[in-house]
Amino acid sequence: MLADFGARAIRILPPEAAHVATVRLLSKGLGAPARAPKLPPDLTVTLPKSGLKFASPIGLAAGFDKNCDVPDVMARFGFGFVECGTVTPRPQPGNPKPRLFRLDEDRAVINRMGFNNYGLDYFVRRLSRLSHAVPVGANVGANKDSEDRIADYVTGIEAVAPYADYITINISSPNTPGLRGLQDKASLSALLSRCGAADRKGKPAFLKVAPDLDAEGIADVCGVVRAEGSWLAGLIVSNTTLARPASLKSTHKGEAGGLSGAPLFDPSTDVLRQFARTLDGAFDLIGAGGISSAEHVRAKLAAGAHAVQIYSALVYEGPGLVQKINRELVPTPAG
Ligand SMILES: Cc1cc2nc3c(=O)[nH]c(=O)nc-3n(C[C@H](O)[C@H](O)[C@H](O)COP(=O)(O)O)c2cc1C
Repeated sequence: MLADFGARAIRILPPEAAHVATVRLLSKGLGAPARAPKLPPDLTVTLPKSGLKFASPIGLAAGFDKNCDVPDVMARFGFGFVECGTVTPRPQPGNPKPRLFRLDEDRAVINRMGFNNYGLDYFVRRLSRLSHAVPVGANVGANKDSEDRIADYVTGIEAVAPYADYITINISSPNTPGLRGLQDKASLSALLSRCGAADRKGKPAFLKVAPDLDAEGIADVCGVVRAEGSWLAGLIVSNTTLARPASLKSTHKGEAGGLSGAPLFDPSTDVLRQFARTLDGAFDLIGAGGISSAEHVRAKLAAGAHAVQIYSALVYEGPGLVQKINRELVPTPAG
């Protein structure tokens, strides 16, 4: 497949240059299939609380298309939904480079991008022109130097709501100092009460959480979500981890930032299971972290997810992985 050949060729470049080149090529329609595959009806999932309907349970996780440049193109790889962002109200450059590392032997990635993005004006312009080949989520965040971070989320929600199919409130990036503090009880309560009052135009909203929460942290988040977040559609579990499992072998394992890919699968699935047990069907759950096979997708669904998202495995397997998994998920061949 041309796209996979391109993905392999691009891997010769340093990781961030490869990523920028990939998005640029895709935005010109290069390296992607001409049209979206026809997915078998058995793959369709409907999320119970939000009613969101995806033609495949596999979505593209946030961070690949931070500026909403290529969601319609990405849909052609067989994704059931695509999430763009994280976008912050004002443009910001992110952290100094290098800030993206491949851990080849571990099938993992470490990133400390720091919400590099072109800002809401650019993002919303792009979002408003989409054909919505599949449902598109807009993932919103706060500027690093913001004096009122919650106000940034409110601004983001209200700006994307007219055009997004769903909204994600990302309070779990480890690369904006203090951002994860918004998961603490009092801060989360203030965040959910102010964001709950924002005009979402009726669009479903998800809260994206970290995998580094212990049992008490999970119980706290669930308690606040039930008390102040009944307006939320659900949670995305999870973002990248600050943990560094002893099993890591690659030379880059000591880099600062969030770890994703294969080593994140078990811990993020455990955290997902705990959220599912505690929330007991009251909220939609989207599982992310280390997925690279149909077996992984099934495990996330068994742990309580209604749909899943992938990013890091695409770095290693190329975008053909999505259709490979789609095919393995149904008894009859897909596409
Ligand atoms: C390079 C990179 C950038 C990311 N940027 C974002 C981001 O801007 N917002 C966000 O919510 N998650 C971001 N993520 C996290 C992913 O969306 C996903 O939650 C995480 O990587 C776990 O999935 P994976 O193991 O399949 O990659 C990023 C991940 C990577 C690897």
